[in-house]
Amino acid sequence: MNFSEDKIREEIKRLKDKLKVTIVAHYYQKDEVFEMADHSGDSLQLAKIAAEDENPYLIFCGVGFMGESVKILDPKKRVFMPRVACCAMAKMIDVDYYDQNVKILEDMGVKKEDILPITYINSSAAVKARVGEMGGYVCTSSNAKKIIEKALQSGKKILFVPDKCLGQNVANMMGLKSAVIGESKEEDIKEAPIVCYNGFCSVHQLFEVEDIEFYRNTYPGIKIAVHPECKPEVCNLADFVGSTSQLIKYVNSLPKEQKVAVGTEYNLVHRMRKENTYVLSSTKPECPTMNETTLQDLYKTLLSIENETFENEIFVDENTVKWARIALERMFEI
Ligand code: 13P
Ligand code: SF4
Repeated sequence: MNFSEDKIREEIKRLKDKLKVTIVAHYYQKDEVFEMADHSGDSLQLAKIAAEDENPYLIFCGVGFMGESVKILDPKKRVFMPRVACCAMAKMIDVDYYDQNVKILEDMGVKKEDILPITYINSSAAVKARVGEMGGYVCTSSNAKKIIEKALQSGKKILFVPDKCLGQNVANMMGLKSAVIGESKEEDIKEAPIVCYNGFCSVHQLFEVEDIEFYRNTYPGIKIAVHPECKPEVCNLADFVGSTSQLIKYVNSLPKEQKVAVGTEYNLVHRMRKENTYVLSSTKPECPTMNETTLQDLYKTLLSIENETFENEIFVDENTVKWARIALERMFEI
């Protein structure tokens, strides 16, 4: 299969039409893959688009939890991923660690029925199912505030997993206290309405207060826009905090001459308007797992559908689908 890149592109287009396959790609995918997609978007948009798509086959260029979410929402659809690469943050929590955190709260005197869990969509199907069983919700970075607001109406303590930064940032936006299990003092955990799991995104941890200071000193008047997976001290200093699609909208809304430094994954920032847009870090903020997927992988996946060998198909067991779907649908209801 020593085709040139152009020939691979041609073949991908031919197979896509022949096989009734829809290709979706997250904004963080490499350009070569991103350009082949029928649809691109943030986690929430892609989950919706992919689950509502009519084609029997879907190829998801992204990270594992994204393909799983589509399979959970539409179990009849055959979902494939050119690389089943797992988001590093999603890997920081499994069902045992989730249960351990619930137990820690119980040992502090919080009854299980008084805990309402919310999991960021960047988590495994099994963790989503656990959250669903406990009456909780899934959220994404674009709707986290809305979901937390709704959940707080229950009067229960929110256990937010796995991203402590997203949980803390939403709490700050709402003027509420938050605490992190494993970091905060017991009295703070007991008092805070939002208690976070100690997980984070290693890519978004790269953005520092010093980066903001550097850009503000170098280019007076520059705007700073960051993803809510960045540290709270970074988000607090930014002009805008939003999901990937919200960041794109914000940058596009600025006058062309307005300089802006963006704190999110490199491929997306690099694809934004070319002039007066900067990556908010001197270290290249590439997501290693998002970047695993290549044009060759996408081509191989299409070939495997044509040959009916069906490689890298996503499966989620029935019981997990049942409960994870409840947690995902609760999010869509809001
Ligand atoms: P979005 O939902 O904003 O696309 O974020 C997904 C993600 O993994 C960010 O690191
Ligand atoms: Fe996961 Fe971070 Fe990569 Fe997003 S950027 S997919 S949270 S590791």
